[in-house]
Order: sequence, then C-alpha cells, then structure tokens
Amino acid sequence: MNNFELYNPVKIIFGKDSIGSLPSLLQNHEKILFAFGGGSIKENGIYDQIKTALIHKDVYEFSGIEANPEYDTLMKAVELCRKCKIDFILAVGGGSVIDGCKFIANAVKFKKSDPWNILMGEQSDNALPLGCVLTLPATGSEMNPFSVISRRSMQQKKDFSSVHSYPVFSILDPSVTFSLPERQVINGIIDPFVHVTEQYLTYKVNSPLQDRQSEAILNTLIEEGPKALNNPKDYDVRANLMWCASNALNGVIGKGVPQDWATHQIGHMLTALYNLDHAQTLAIILPALLKHEFEFKKEKLVSYGKRVFNLDYSSDNKIASSAIDKTEKFFRSLGAKTRLSEYKISKKDLPDIAKKVMEVSKGNKLGENKRIGEDEILGILEIAW
Ligand code: NZQ
Ligand code: ZN
Repeated sequence: MNNFELYNPVKIIFGKDSIGSLPSLLQNHEKILFAFGGGSIKENGIYDQIKTALIHKDVYEFSGIEANPEYDTLMKAVELCRKCKIDFILAVGGGSVIDGCKFIANAVKFKKSDPWNILMGEQSDNALPLGCVLTLPATGSEMNPFSVISRRSMQQKKDFSSVHSYPVFSILDPSVTFSLPERQVINGIIDPFVHVTEQYLTYKVNSPLQDRQSEAILNTLIEEGPKALNNPKDYDVRANLMWCASNALNGVIGKGVPQDWATHQIGHMLTALYNLDHAQTLAIILPALLKHEFEFKKEKLVSYGKRVFNLDYSSDNKIASSAIDKTEKFFRSLGAKTRLSEYKISKKDLPDIAKKVMEVSKGNKLGENKRIGEDEILGILEIAW
C-alpha cells in the first residue's frame, strides 16, 4: 500500500428532517449568503424550509448558479459577499451549487491576484466558511475539497482543490431527492460509480481493504440504482444511494492506492465543448478507456469482474473483457447513452477534443501510469464513438 495522509473535517447530518438542524449549526454566524441554482428548490419546498430555518438571520439570497457553474456568475456572488460582509455561505443544491460556493468562498478572500488564478493552480490562503444542504447526491462535493468551475467564454472547465473548501457541515436528507428528474437520478448513479472506478480500476498495490470498500460501493449502486428508477419514492433506496455518493469521493477509498481520473479529464472537455451532463460524459468514456487500457488494468479488471459481476470463467482475459461489457450494459440499462455518436458528435471533431484535453492538462499525460497522451485520448475517443 502507498503512504497517505487522511483529513476530512466535514460534519454530516444525515436523515429525514435534518434541515431542522440548521439554526443550531449556524448559531455563530449572522450574515448568511443563501446560494442556490435555477429554482428547483422553490418547486419542491426546500426553499421554504431553509427560509424558515434562517428566520433570525441576516440572509442574502444568490440564485441562478448554473449546472456546471459559470465563473462569471460566481464572480457576481463574490462581489456581493465582499460588499455585504457575508460571514457564512449556505449552498443549497447539487454538485454545481456546492462547487460554485466553494469557489466563491475562496475567491472572496483571494486578494493577491485575479481569482481565476485559483483555477490555474494558485493556492488560496483562506476562505469563508461554507455549509451545504445537498439536493442531488452524485459528485461527493458535500464531503470533499474539490470544485469544478466552467468558463464558457474560454470553453474551459477546470477544477481546484483547497483545504479551505471542506464544508463545515453537510445536511443530507434523502427525501429531498424525491423531486429529482429521472435524468439526474441516472447521473447520480453513474457519477459515483465512476468515482469509484477511477480509484479502484488501476493496478494492484496490495490494498484489500480499499478494494473491498470500492466493491461494496459498486455493488450497492448496481443493486439500489435500478430500484430508485423503478420505485422513485422509496426512502431507503434514496438514502443508500445518497450515502454511496458521499463515500465514493470523500477521500477514504482512494487513500494508499493509485488513482486514474483520465475518464473525468476527458469528460470535462466533452461538457465544455458540447454541454453534456457530467455523468453523461463518464458513461461514454469509461467503457472505452477500460478497453483501451486493458493490458494495464487487467489484474484489477479481473477482480472487478469476479467480485462485482460474479463472473466465473476460466480465462482471465474473458473475465476482464466481460467486466467491461457488463459495465457498459449497466449504464445502458439505467437509460444512459454510451457512445459519442448517440449525441451526434462528429467523428471529425475527435482529434480536436484530444488536443484540447492535453492543453488543459498542460501537456501532462493522464491516468495512473501517466501514459495517456494525445494519441491515446484519440484512441479512446474513437472506441467511444
Ligand atoms: O439548478 P436547480 O434548479 O437546482 O436544478 C438542478 C440542476 O438543473 C437539478 N436539481 C438538483 N437537485 C434537485 C434538482 N432538481 C429537482 N430536485 C432536486 N432535488 O439538477 C440539475 C443538475 O444539478 P447539478 O448540481 O449540476 O448536478 P451534479 O450534482 O451532478 O453536479 C455536476 C457538477 O459537479 C461537478 C461536475 O463537473 C459538474 O460541474 N463535479 C464535482 C465534483 C466534486 N466537487 O468533487 C466531482 C465530480 O466528478 C464532478 O466533476
Ligand atoms: Zn464525477
């Protein structure tokens, strides 16, 4: 096992009616930025619950944080926070609102240069404290230090990580997910699934605990995911999916093991160029990447095939390749598309996509072996087409 450090200070309040904990969680803060997205919280009653919980606070609302949060929008919130001397940010939404608020929190305190530099690799020294009410379990943002921000004018989608971005608390009430449209439920199964594979389907380093933790999340997603689609009002199913999503990217399963993340890096470019949902991009790229990197990932693919899909062939090659087919079939069974051509992306675009992924990574090759460069990305995209 590789050496590691583990730090995760996020307080999780999980369960029915947990939004009721807000007043006690916010007792040391007065001027609250209540940030949310495009209005789903007004339709499903979460907005009213939050307003009631914040009744004794000085509340400033900031709405309109987009899916794939936009830098220019977030900078307006930064101005508001500075002008009104906000002392706490409450993010109410999915990964986009939470990621957006992580950026706002860091940017408010970032005075040394243009806040865009936070996304270009400059570390922030401080941030406003942030709390979350999660409405879409998928990204794990509620329990991690990562944030992904888009800048459409530059066709960019970039991530940053800061120790100051950990939410102070995250409220996870599974019943708030009943109002999710089916497409977002599907996204909320596939994104955590791929977060796990990015940390699990690499090469062996003798880490049986992390492997089994990863397999447990994958097995649970495979079991519970279809139930959420078939029986959308089942609270326990929603609770299990919600907790899977947090555990898939809260840092634990990735400690001491190699990590890949090439599927995500290629996927981010597809979102930047074609506006596909984050998880839609992953469902396309993961099976293709596993096929392309077959020889390098084979040992882990065999374990995955045996323990997650119960495959029992005498040939390791057959187990590993069937495991990839099963992965794609699982995504399709949920209703996800798994080919670029299904989104009408032209084959002629593929070299340009590969080039742009490498530009964003500043020429650094991707994957756990740092061997996926422009040619390999093109190869993956061709398989995915
Ligand atoms: O904007 P509103 O009106 O709230 O509607 C949202 C949005 O349109 C809607 N929604 C959310 N909760 C709802 C709901 N609709 C009905 N009922 C509810 N309870 O769902 C739509 C999508 O929301 P969004 O937050 O964009 O989705 P998601 O949570 O999948 O977040 C995606 C973003 O997170 C980034 C992605 O790249 C993308 O930008 N990621 C963040 C990560 C992290 N911070 O660790 C890791 C991930 O790999 C990912 O990259
Ligand atoms: Zn993701």
